[in-house]
Amino acid sequence: MATGLYPQTKVLSKNFDVPNAHTLAVARPRGAYQSLEKALRTMTPAQVTEEVKKSRLRGRGGAGFPTGMKWSFVAKNTGKPTYLVMNADESEPGAFKDRYLMERDPHLVVEGALVSAYAIEASAVFIYVRGEYPNSIRRLEGAIAEARAAGLVGKDILGTKFSCEVWVHPGAGAYICGEETGLLESLEGKRGHPRIKPPFPAVEGVFRCPTIINNVETLSHVPWIVAHGGEAFAKQGIPPDPANPRSNGSTGTKLMGVSGQVRNPGLWEFEPGITLRELVYGYGGGPLPGRKIKAVIPGGISMPVLLDSELDVKMGFDELVKVGSGLGTGTAIVMDDTCDMVEACVNIAHFFGHESCGQCTPCREGCHWMEKVFRRVADGDGQPGDLDLLESLFKGIEGRTICFLADAAVWPVRSIVRKFRGEFLAKMTPAPTPAGA
Ligand SMILES: Cc1cc2nc3c(=O)[nH]c(=O)nc-3n(C[C@H](O)[C@H](O)[C@H](O)COP(=O)(O)O)c2cc1C
Ligand code: SF4
Repeated sequence: MATGLYPQTKVLSKNFDVPNAHTLAVARPRGAYQSLEKALRTMTPAQVTEEVKKSRLRGRGGAGFPTGMKWSFVAKNTGKPTYLVMNADESEPGAFKDRYLMERDPHLVVEGALVSAYAIEASAVFIYVRGEYPNSIRRLEGAIAEARAAGLVGKDILGTKFSCEVWVHPGAGAYICGEETGLLESLEGKRGHPRIKPPFPAVEGVFRCPTIINNVETLSHVPWIVAHGGEAFAKQGIPPDPANPRSNGSTGTKLMGVSGQVRNPGLWEFEPGITLRELVYGYGGGPLPGRKIKAVIPGGISMPVLLDSELDVKMGFDELVKVGSGLGTGTAIVMDDTCDMVEACVNIAHFFGHESCGQCTPCREGCHWMEKVFRRVADGDGQPGDLDLLESLFKGIEGRTICFLADAAVWPVRSIVRKFRGEFLAKMTPAPTPAGA
């Protein structure tokens, strides 16, 4: 790797290249479960939550919601058990960060789940894992079995009064089961149909009990926060904007990846001050020989594209929103100048149409309608009004559905239609010449 690059900060990834780090025999001497021990023996659940609030940790599943604040919404004294659900569905195209954590450091994932369960006083954790991740499932189940045998999972953990079960639940291959309430339905054995909110899961979640749902990467940060304190975490990355009292910054570290048409696809960990250009050109190695970068989606497939000229933006939650995109999963997809942007839209619309659960008409019908229009433009059969028709479809879909799958379907394709209008127009059938002209 060339020198002079933005530095990596290996916190979550510190064991990724350590042989057999997935076993307790290797992970424990390297510090695994020390934070669990510290939390259980020296902190109250409220104190753990307080440290997570101070850390300003924001959810790594895509939306960036403050984790400590989410935990404080959990309904108390309901007479029902409280559950923690770890979202390991990771079905977003281009996303592969949670898989690394589960396969290479499953004890960190399990410890993150247990410390977080302690904080919200949950009696069980369900880890909902993408069904197409058999290695992740195996590694997690192996880690849980080892942890249980060592008194780290189950009854009276480490001889304390805290008891917590951890269950791995494989999904069956639906993107919508990554949406938190679709996931809860699936966990209950039903179709993954997202629920109308409220009630929010923190009040009524899985099996109608108070439930906190967080992403794998989010919860994997919690052991470090307990070990070093929330303030130390908040000092890393991008601090909150002092001019904006609602800003939470982008603190801590973030797993970031690059896939697509680059020389060196991969996954690294940084404090969020790195720019998208440094990520794609520095770590991702830039375009393939003789090619130029045309467009980049900063995180997964669900965010608006950025042009090569727009890549000097920092990989932070608020910074990417300011330039009209979003951090999403933080795993960028790169398209070079061989990529046909109309065909890219066909693919994206097809994906979302296929994954729509079908409950909401704008999503069920709109995604397929978008795909049909993109398909005919790609085939050279576009009509003069098709770009206006697409704009009216975007308007008819966005913000009108139960969950964000439909919005996520609109964001990337709308940005492509607007930024690559010339490519669409070049493929449109010219309007017939009026008779006599
Ligand atoms: C269609 C759709 C798919 C999603 N897929 C995932 C996923 O695979 N993993 C994930 O963590 N969050 C996913 N999310 C976001 C979750 O609904 C939820 O916001 C997240 O799990 C909360 O965790 P966090 O606060 O730790 O980010 C998805 C959202 C939508 C709308
Ligand atoms: S937006 Fe789409 S995926 Fe989400 S609930 Fe409605 S139909 Fe289902």
